[in-house]
Amino acid sequence: MAERTILLNERDIPRQWYNFAVDLPTPLQPPLGPDGKPISPDMLSAVFPMNLIEQEVSQERWIDIPEEILEILYRWRPSPLRRAKYLEQYLKTPARIYYKDESLSPPGSHKPNTAVAQAWYNKQFGIKKLTTETGAGQWGSALAFACKIVGLECKVFMVRISFDQKPLRKTMMRVWDANCVASPSKETRFGREVLKKMPDTPGSLGIAISEAIEEAVADKSGKTRYSLGSVLNHVMLHQTIIGLEAKKQLESISEKLPDVVVGCAGGGSNFAGLAFPFAYDKINGAKIEIIPTEPTACPTMTRGEFAYDFGDTACTTPLLAMYTLGHAFVPPPIHAGGLRYHGMAPLVCQAINDGLMTPKSYEQNRCYESALIWARTEGTICAPETSHAIACVIEEAEKARQEAKEKVIIFNYSGHGLMDLSGYVNYLDGKLIDYPLPEKELKKSLASIKDLPKPKTQNTTKV
Ligand SMILES: Cc1ncc(COP(=O)(O)O)c(C=O)c1O
Repeated sequence: MAERTILLNERDIPRQWYNFAVDLPTPLQPPLGPDGKPISPDMLSAVFPMNLIEQEVSQERWIDIPEEILEILYRWRPSPLRRAKYLEQYLKTPARIYYKDESLSPPGSHKPNTAVAQAWYNKQFGIKKLTTETGAGQWGSALAFACKIVGLECKVFMVRISFDQKPLRKTMMRVWDANCVASPSKETRFGREVLKKMPDTPGSLGIAISEAIEEAVADKSGKTRYSLGSVLNHVMLHQTIIGLEAKKQLESISEKLPDVVVGCAGGGSNFAGLAFPFAYDKINGAKIEIIPTEPTACPTMTRGEFAYDFGDTACTTPLLAMYTLGHAFVPPPIHAGGLRYHGMAPLVCQAINDGLMTPKSYEQNRCYESALIWARTEGTICAPETSHAIACVIEEAEKARQEAKEKVIIFNYSGHGLMDLSGYVNYLDGKLIDYPLPEKELKKSLASIKDLPKPKTQNTTKV
């Protein structure tokens, strides 16, 4: 059991995605339209192509991955499963810590697992151009890469704070031929409106999503669609390749099912990608602790309300039943740009309500401290988002030491931080500020959802 890198042959790559919606103990509550009634799939057709809408609402447990998509994924998949031996030694823990290394994809994160699939399905549907939002720039660069490989145009609205903090991400998008603008921008009606009211706003994913949707539906040729990098069911679906590979890799070294599964969660996709295949085992009796982690500055799952809310600030998306801080929430400018989102994937939220998952939140200083421990033991520099998973893994490994328990911990190493060094600079210079969300602000931002319809089942197991 001493392997450090557990590889999977190309021929053993999973050939189907896992649709967790089918096994969720409580079925998802339907997305609602502006009239408060469940929307029909065709109502989404101005925004997404029908082949992806079909996946969004699918009731099939397994969905075939087209061979042409696998051909693209082989550029970096199957991704290695690694054992964090040096971190274990540093922590003197009896736990065995494994991580799926998603940082090896061309853009450096898990995001192209769905970007490639979405670009491919759009191309099949005759679409010529995709618009999207990006927080940290990871998703924007992943979609830029995927569009280039598949042969689509790409326009990215990048949250202003990240646009300024991460100029090199913009360059990556340009290298892959995408057009990247800071959001709020002057290029959409909604962007101009926000700029008029809040000229100095750092922006938010909610605002950028509104801009990207506005631009997609404004194209009257019908050849532009919008692409979302997280939250939706079909995005979670595409990411399950991570957990399905991990299961095969653990099996190949005769390792048992993990005791603890961890992933950071912004909209939920890298966490879900690793966790859902193990949640299946939990539903079927396995004892696994499954932990999505988030910043205390944007505590959607740990302090948000389970409610129907819009996915964007301009209220253009359908209403989704999810944990939310309110669609008007503008998170503080923390460095984990990809975790600054007011909502969360409905599938993850319902799994929390069903007691399958237990979210935790961490301060950004503690996360950078964990990222440094990681870099100084394992060697690699993680994305600021990923550090929220590492903080939890260290906590769990220390708990295992105190309890003298030989636990198996697995987490998703969702991306590298080589384009995100400005956060490390601030931390090393002692200038990083923690922003635990004040109760008063939380109440204020939740006021934006008080008149929206309420979900039928409320949270029962909130921690
Ligand atoms: C490296 C990395 N990890 C995690 C996330 C969070 O997104 P999600 O919850 O969809 O995985 C992001 C988002 O940009 C990211 O770039």
